[in-house]
Amino acid sequence: MRPTHRSVMALLPSRKMTRPMSIFPPPESERATKRLKLEHLNSDSFKNGVFLAPMVRSGALPTRLMSLKHGAPLVWSPEVVDKAILHAERVVDPVTGVISYNGKTRAIFTTHPVEKPYLIYQIGSADPELAVQAAKTVIQDVSGIDLNCGCPKPFSTHAGMGAALLTNPDLLCDILTALRRELPPEVTVSAKIRLLPSQDDTKKLVERIIRTGVSALTVHCRTRNMRPREAALIERLREIVEFVEGLGVDIPVVANGDCQGWEDAKRVKRITGASSVMIATAAEANPSCFSITPLQDVETTLIPSYLRLCKYLDNYWALTKFCISQFKGVRTELTKNEAHDLKSRIIKAKGYDEVTDLVGSWTGEADLAEIVNSIYSRRPRPLLAEPPPDPETPLGQFTTLAPVEDGSSGEDPPLATPLDRLNPEPPTSYAPLGPSTGARMPQPAIITGSDMLTPTPTPKHAYPFSP
Ligand SMILES: Cc1cc2nc3c(=O)[nH]c(=O)nc-3n(C[C@H](O)[C@H](O)[C@H](O)COP(=O)(O)O)c2cc1C
Repeated sequence: MRPTHRSVMALLPSRKMTRPMSIFPPPESERATKRLKLEHLNSDSFKNGVFLAPMVRSGALPTRLMSLKHGAPLVWSPEVVDKAILHAERVVDPVTGVISYNGKTRAIFTTHPVEKPYLIYQIGSADPELAVQAAKTVIQDVSGIDLNCGCPKPFSTHAGMGAALLTNPDLLCDILTALRRELPPEVTVSAKIRLLPSQDDTKKLVERIIRTGVSALTVHCRTRNMRPREAALIERLREIVEFVEGLGVDIPVVANGDCQGWEDAKRVKRITGASSVMIATAAEANPSCFSITPLQDVETTLIPSYLRLCKYLDNYWALTKFCISQFKGVRTELTKNEAHDLKSRIIKAKGYDEVTDLVGSWTGEADLAEIVNSIYSRRPRPLLAEPPPDPETPLGQFTTLAPVEDGSSGEDPPLATPLDRLNPEPPTSYAPLGPSTGARMPQPAIITGSDMLTPTPTPKHAYPFSP
């Protein structure tokens, strides 16, 4: 049965769960205190997981939701440059709950309340003050802020952002320190770096970053000059992980580079000793790669429900098509030609209506409800305070990485980066503007957790905990 709009809403977090911490009544009991603690991320949330990496364009909202559905405990937003978000208007779609941060001509960032407890928002910045302002602009809709210190593209580095920060550690650390100082403690601050050419320099940088008070550090195991097709140097990470452990701080290091999925993350974990693993390209190809049993024949399994979800969420058709064009996975029933034909039908289509026959019917609301259910029914569910709304809901997957046994045998898959990887592009979601505030009826705060018609807060009042 197709769930009604109300039934989807019933699955979404209650007002109590999504409102900023400051409006909670003071804890009256141990249970209440415990619940408060569970409602936000901390360093432990970055341990033992396989996460979705930040990906401009490819890390769009529907892909993040699919990744969460299939077991990613945390998802990173695509990088958004600090200045780009500052003057965006925050608009909530009253029907779907989608929150759009609209710039003058396009949405800079879109999110949905259901992903908030797991969403790390990535900033591109070369200025501590702007970084803080940007973070405060979106803080009501995200759980952590990550600083991009690895993008090697000129659009990023020419302004001193991304990988340029790797050679400007004072600025890099100033930004992290400012973020940590100015943001409420419930919001994690983390960084994503690349390896430096020398191991010693990498360790020096890592130590400085760790001392800023970050909750986690992701290391993309390529140097700034390495091309995406070159195999990631994950073997270099073990020494860095051990170095961080030797600092006597309990800060998880997340390994990134060439991981192919949940199963393969065990290999990365074994080689690097890292606490968690982050996946970009393989998730771009199949967001169900976080599952113990990733979807096969994505053209007939993943893509129809992805299309339905995208249409329901009003995802820009061109962006939907782009993401779908990146999808591919193991084929068991489809032939290569069949898979190719299905994808090219979608890529040639000018809108959702032209692919109706591929999706059955447009029950995107049901697809969203399924995602919400999967997220809520995960075990363990360290990030949600309330029990799943429906006890009958089948259990989700156990998404944390089991410790890898020593001496595990078997051939490691080659450390190869897929050949068709696209390079990151200038930060923008490429989405059209979200609905204007006047266009539709507002969504109740029970869904959004905050007043949906409130314009993007000024940095000063962005969060009640702001100093
Ligand atoms: C399409 C695409 C977009 C990316 N966008 C970002 C980004 O916005 N921020 C970032 O830190 N890294 C970005 N990256 C780099 C990835 O997060 C990741 O570090 C890199 O691809 C290595 O991981 P992988 O080997 O699993 O692909 C992007 C990568 C791809 C393929």
